[in-house]
Amino acid sequence: MAITIKSASEIEKMRIAGKLAAEVLDFIGPRIKPGITTAEVDRLCHDYMVKQQGTIPAPLNYAPPGYTPYPKSICTSVNHVICHGVPNDAKKLKNGDILNVDITVIKDGYHGDTSRMFFVGEASIQAKRLCEITHECMWIGIEEIAPGKHLGDIGHAIQRHAEASGYSVVREFCGHGIGRSFHEEPQVLHYGKSNTGVKLVPGMIFTVEPMINAGRRDIRQLADGWTIVTKDHSLSAQWEHTVLVTETGYEVLTVSPGMPAKPAALHEHA
Ligand code: MF3
Ligand code: CO
Ligand code: CO
Repeated sequence: MAITIKSASEIEKMRIAGKLAAEVLDFIGPRIKPGITTAEVDRLCHDYMVKQQGTIPAPLNYAPPGYTPYPKSICTSVNHVICHGVPNDAKKLKNGDILNVDITVIKDGYHGDTSRMFFVGEASIQAKRLCEITHECMWIGIEEIAPGKHLGDIGHAIQRHAEASGYSVVREFCGHGIGRSFHEEPQVLHYGKSNTGVKLVPGMIFTVEPMINAGRRDIRQLADGWTIVTKDHSLSAQWEHTVLVTETGYEVLTVSPGMPAKPAALHEHA
């Protein structure tokens, strides 16, 4: 399947789906506290999507080739879990944990995909720095987006900032085109070289979702077939937005009132 260029009416539907996905994160943020389990976070989000929003949680039963159907409605990745953490009742979140909540909704046939980091209680200075730098990495990547630029510009900018900060970039998972399908072409790598890869064209929609490790970049997949952790057990963080290429630059589609703002000082990338 080639990269789809979205029409004006499809873009309007993607704006709606994106906003709804972001609003699930606004809803769940204040509820993340020591003592809650990730299964409870999943249940709260599921009910909010289905009952309040009338959206479909895209992860539930999602089964790409080679995977067993995903059993929950959201992904919850705690501490050294990089991505695709499966919500579970086994342990309660505790003070100092960091948690990525990744929400993908379907509304009117179109997908919105976004994730944020949350602190459970009070996080350590190291954990806060990792989450902050990863947020900057996502925005530095997004700021590269404009017609005529290349996908490699995004990856290059992200990798440069992550590595200059002493962190590593996960290679095995990447951003992706999104629309009627959850995962479409192109693949959006979070590392690479400027001026390489697909040239950006207005109407493309894809995610930028860097996974940044405090330690080495190597990963391990758990026996559940989904959960991805850092091999060295170092902390990992991720942020994600769904972004449209416009005539003049970009438009973030996964916006909501509670969305953390773009960092003020993205100086070296102006
Ligand atoms: N939301 C993830 C992404 O950003 C994909 C999760 S697939 C799932 O692409 F099945 F684990 F939900
Ligand atoms: Co995604
Ligand atoms: Co996602």
